[in-house]
Amino acid sequence: MKIAVLAGDGIGTEIVAEAVKVLLALDLKMEMESALVGGVAYDAFGHPLPPATLALAKASDAILFGAVGDWKYDKLERQFRPEQAILGLRKELGLFANFRPAICYEELVDASSLKPELIAGLDILIIRELTGDIYFGQPRGRRVATDGHFPGAEEAFDTMRYSRPEIERIAHVAFDAARKRSKRVTSVDKNNVLETSQLWKDVMIEVAQQYPDITLDHMLVDNAAMQLVKEPKKFDVVVTGNMFGDILSDEASMLTGSIGMLPSASLNASNQGLYEPSHGSAPDIAGKGIANPLATILSAAMMLRFSLGQADAALRIEHAVKAVLAKGLRTSDIYGKGGAGITKVSTLEMGDAVVAALA
Ligand code: IPM
Ligand code: MG
Repeated sequence: MKIAVLAGDGIGTEIVAEAVKVLLALDLKMEMESALVGGVAYDAFGHPLPPATLALAKASDAILFGAVGDWKYDKLERQFRPEQAILGLRKELGLFANFRPAICYEELVDASSLKPELIAGLDILIIRELTGDIYFGQPRGRRVATDGHFPGAEEAFDTMRYSRPEIERIAHVAFDAARKRSKRVTSVDKNNVLETSQLWKDVMIEVAQQYPDITLDHMLVDNAAMQLVKEPKKFDVVVTGNMFGDILSDEASMLTGSIGMLPSASLNASNQGLYEPSHGSAPDIAGKGIANPLATILSAAMMLRFSLGQADAALRIEHAVKAVLAKGLRTSDIYGKGGAGITKVSTLEMGDAVVAALA
């Protein structure tokens, strides 16, 4: 088992260090190798995804990823910005299937901005197509004014595009996932306006024929955004395109009140995967030792389960995380109002507590 460890920017290094600590404590046979990615890679090598980092990622069974991005790179040309690293990895490795669970932990039910009864027991799985859509469609560009006036462009455009095979394969992922859950899939699109969405809906209906045990329904994305805050527990598996999935997964994760808790997995057709927390690089709190490492630790668990065939080890990590929450340990993002038996801990202390709870 070979793991590429790409910590990235901001809090990335701190949270990934804790996940690595937990993995090492499992005492499994695995090789880990680190490389720079994102803004730190740009600083060192002039590119956010240097060839050596990409080669390491390709040669690994799985990638443990922290986060990329910092405002200080906002002025760079797009191709050099940190975000290009994660987009490049997704495209180069064909990581088309993105799993973003939004789970409300019983202990953290008060951390949400929604009423507890709306979100207690919430367990949604958003499946986001990750290598197509307006993120990667060609052509794209800017048309600059004829007098070369800068910085303003006269016109800018991106292309929203999906092909039948791209939709078919993510449909299979969603229906297979639903088979292991409540056997319901909600497909989200904007078919009342967009051609790509009409194709999306048609292909979803077609593929669903092969899954008579699964109930498929469809929702327009604006309505889905509304229903997610109105009655989130109505959803189980949600499958949607790259752009809508980006937006809805942020919304769903914050319903739980604890984006610092949510892992994610991005898989290709051979189950090679990239595992990262659902949150970003949070440069404002980087280096302070207060970031929540649990999303990354839980991402490591997903990695063991999906890419490394170590389901038992994954469960051990997940139980350990539940145990530290039950003990009342909280990083500041999930501390809430505190109270009796609740202790505020640092990033490092949280990692140590998970290691201790593994035993
Ligand atoms: C995400 C992020 C990325 C995306 C950015 C960093 C390119 O928001 O993983 O959701 O838009 O996909
Ligand atoms: Mg996003």
